[in-house]
Amino acid sequence: MKLDQQNYLERRKQLLAQMPEGSVMVIAAESLKTRNNDAEYPFRQSSNFYYLTGFNEPDALLVLARGAANLVTLFCPPRDPEMEIWTGYRAGPEGCVKRFGADQAFNLDEIDERLPKMIDGASQLLYPIARDKALDARVKGWLETLGRSVRSGAVLPQTLADSDRLLHEMRLFKSAAEIEVMQRAATISATAHCQAMLTCKPGINEFQLESVIQAYCGSQGARFQAYTPIVAGGANACILHYIENDQPIADGDLVLIDAGCELDNYASDITRTFPANGRFSEEQAAIYDLVLKANEACIEAVRPGTCWDSLHQLSVRILTQGLIELGLLQGDLDELIESGAFRRFYMHRIGHWLGMDVHDVGDYRVDGEWRKLAPGIVTTIEPGIYIAPDDHSVEERWRGIGVRIEDDVLVTEQGSKVLTAGVPKLRSEIEALMQNAG
Ligand code: GLY
Ligand code: MN
Ligand code: MN
Repeated sequence: MKLDQQNYLERRKQLLAQMPEGSVMVIAAESLKTRNNDAEYPFRQSSNFYYLTGFNEPDALLVLARGAANLVTLFCPPRDPEMEIWTGYRAGPEGCVKRFGADQAFNLDEIDERLPKMIDGASQLLYPIARDKALDARVKGWLETLGRSVRSGAVLPQTLADSDRLLHEMRLFKSAAEIEVMQRAATISATAHCQAMLTCKPGINEFQLESVIQAYCGSQGARFQAYTPIVAGGANACILHYIENDQPIADGDLVLIDAGCELDNYASDITRTFPANGRFSEEQAAIYDLVLKANEACIEAVRPGTCWDSLHQLSVRILTQGLIELGLLQGDLDELIESGAFRRFYMHRIGHWLGMDVHDVGDYRVDGEWRKLAPGIVTTIEPGIYIAPDDHSVEERWRGIGVRIEDDVLVTEQGSKVLTAGVPKLRSEIEALMQNAG
């Protein structure tokens, strides 16, 4: 499942329409990164670059020029039949025009000669300022080249501006085509979580469950995860970014899995927590139901017009109230919220935007105010409670319990749609699924 060239063309058009008259924007592709010696990490294209091109080759450069006739230029790795025996097919300039819709395209080695001319006299030069050292240095070089030619009539761009402002605002609002891909990614990940629940039994190692997730996603064409999976048995769930995933899971442990695949460079992000032996203990059930209550109430509140921060505040109120009822916090609800006492057990926020990046781009505050949700935004809702194994201020029976329940939620005109509904989260449903294992 992939977006087609029409999608990328429309995005470039939309972006160009928002750029100031006479401005030029430069967006760089990602480079290959060495893993060790001459082995490389799997290539992952820059999200901004891919968003505008769908072009998956390293080191390329996109130049958008806003003028009487807008001009889209791609610089790309050259065709080289001998190299292509090693690296695989390259589109080359011809392919960039024919298949990727550029108005013109050149080999990478022409960048430093052509770029100064392309930004000569621009009203504004837009690029991701101070995000990418190599690009910062290149832009400086082009400006210096131009500066040396002023007596020959060259004119430096009047202003420099950050390209991310326009681009990230666009990326925050997902089109129907993007939502289709994100739904598919979420559905694959949801089934992968079900497979992990079905496979789990006491004594299994965390890495075995991780491999179940990866194998299933890979078998559906989602070869890469959107982030390193967290597979945490027992108290490991209290380490928020636990990625060692190499411990045996004991009878009586809860298992927290936070994993989501990437499809056509779109992320999914799901957390489920379930009992290794298929039955929640009394304490596990109490914490689980409280987290679920916050998860469901916050999802219920997702709709156009809801203030982003109010979702977090809602989760804080529900979780703090529940912690008081369970005897894990003592005192007045408002005072405990005001003092931040809940942070001992709930130390992160309710969620984040989701899209091409798992922690997706787009401002959370607009003109000094928290953003209001609007159709096309996808957010995660992921409350959690984590009781440290060495927290001697609570009774021993609570210690080492960590629960997070995370869903991906699309804001629609009518309200919301949960993209990750394919994996159960009611205790009774999880227990029923696990009883059916084997
Ligand atoms: N999996 C990363 C997160 O939940 O934010
Ligand atoms: Mn998340
Ligand atoms: Mn997550």
